Amino acid sequence: MKTYKIGLIGMGGMGFRFLNSFIASDRWEVAYVCDLNDERLQRAKELIPTATFTKDYTDLLNDPEVDTVAICTLADIRPMLMKAALAAGKHIIAEKPIADSIPGEWELLKTIEDSGLIVAVNIFNRNAWYHDEIQAFIASGEIGQLAVVNISHQTPGLMPTEGHNPEGPPFHDCGMHYVDVARWYAGSEYKQWHAQGVRMWSWDDPWWVNVHGQFENGVTFGITQSFAYGQMAKEKTIHCGLEILGTQGLVRMRHDFKTVTIEYHGVNKSETKQGPYGNKKTDVMVERFAQALDTGDASRLPSARDSVVASAVSQEMLDSASRENSPRIGTREELDLILAHRKH
Ligand SMILES: NC(=O)c1ccc[n+]([C@@H]2O[C@H](COP(=O)([O-])OP(=O)(O)OC[C@H]3O[C@@H](n4cnc5c(N)ncnc54)[C@H](O)[C@@H]3O)[C@@H](O)[C@H]2O)c1
Repeated sequence: MKTYKIGLIGMGGMGFRFLNSFIASDRWEVAYVCDLNDERLQRAKELIPTATFTKDYTDLLNDPEVDTVAICTLADIRPMLMKAALAAGKHIIAEKPIADSIPGEWELLKTIEDSGLIVAVNIFNRNAWYHDEIQAFIASGEIGQLAVVNISHQTPGLMPTEGHNPEGPPFHDCGMHYVDVARWYAGSEYKQWHAQGVRMWSWDDPWWVNVHGQFENGVTFGITQSFAYGQMAKEKTIHCGLEILGTQGLVRMRHDFKTVTIEYHGVNKSETKQGPYGNKKTDVMVERFAQALDTGDASRLPSARDSVVASAVSQEMLDSASRENSPRIGTREELDLILAHRKH
C-alpha cells in the first residue's frame, strides 16, 4: 500500500494527537513538523527524530514530496495557511473552525470546494464507531421513524481567559460539534430554534447554553452545552451523551471520555453495549484520509462544508442566547477562585 508524506503545522494539544496517530499508522511518513515554539518542536523531535523541524511553514509547502498538511494552529491564522497550502497543491486535514469569522469561513469554503483537493475538518464525532453503530440501528428501522435528538455535552471545561479565544465561547468552540451531530442524525437543515444562556460568574459571554428547535424535516432537537459544570466540586463529574427517540423505540448513549455505553431499546433488539471512547479519533481520521487519497473518494471524511455549517449555526445560536439577555449569575470573584483552583 502506498505511503503518504505529511507535514504538520501547529503543535499544541491537537497537533500532538495527530502526530501520534500519523506515527502509529503504516500509511504515513511524517516529513515535517512546524511550530514557532522551540520546546514543542523539541518534544516532537523526541517522538519522530527522522522528520524535518521548522518554524517556517513554507518549507513544507515548497516540498513537492509532501502530499498533505495537517493544520492544527488556532483559527486566526488557519485561512492564510489553508489558502497557501491549497495554492501549493496540498491536500489538507484541518482543525475546526476553519476561520475565526463566519464570513471568513464561507469565503474559504469556496476556495476549498473549487480546489479539487481533498480537505477534511476534524469534527471528530463523524469518525466515532458508536455514532456509526447507532445510525445503522436507526436505519434498520428498530426505533420506527426518527423524531427527537437530545444531546448533552456538559463538562468542567476551559474557563474564560484560559485559551481558544479565536474560537469564541464554549457553545461555538465546542458546541459546534454537537450542532453538527444533531444535524447529521436528523439528515436535514436547521429550521427554527430558541436559545437561552447563563452568563456564569457574570462573565460577558454565556458559558452555559440550551437550544431547542426543529429541522426542516420535522425532527426535533435539544442541545445543552456547557463548560460550567461544577468546576469547584470536590468530585468532578460530567454529563455527556445523547438520546434518540423514534416513533417505536429509542437509543441512549453516554460516555465519560473513557468508555461509551449505548443502550439500544429497539422493537426487536434490546442491548447494552460498551466500548472505548477513543479520544479525538485522530487514528480513524488519518486512516480514512489515506484511503481517500488512494481512491479519490472523500465521502467517509468530515467535510469542510459540514464544519462551516455547524460553525455558522452554533454562532447564530450563541448570538441569539446572548441577545435573549442571558442572566448574569455568580461573581467575578468566583471566576477568579475557579481559575486559581484549576491552576493548582
Ligand atoms: N476537533 C476537536 O475536537 C478539537 C479539540 C481541541 C481543539 N481543537 C482545535 O484545534 C486547534 C488547536 O488547538 P490547541 O488546543 O492544540 O491549540 P494550541 O494553542 O495549544 O496550539 C496551537 C499551536 O500553533 C502554533 N502556531 C501558531 N502560529 C503558528 C505558525 N505561524 N506556524 C506554526 N505554528 C504556529 C503555536 O505555537 C501552538 O503550539 C484549535 O483551533 C482548536 O479549536 C479541536
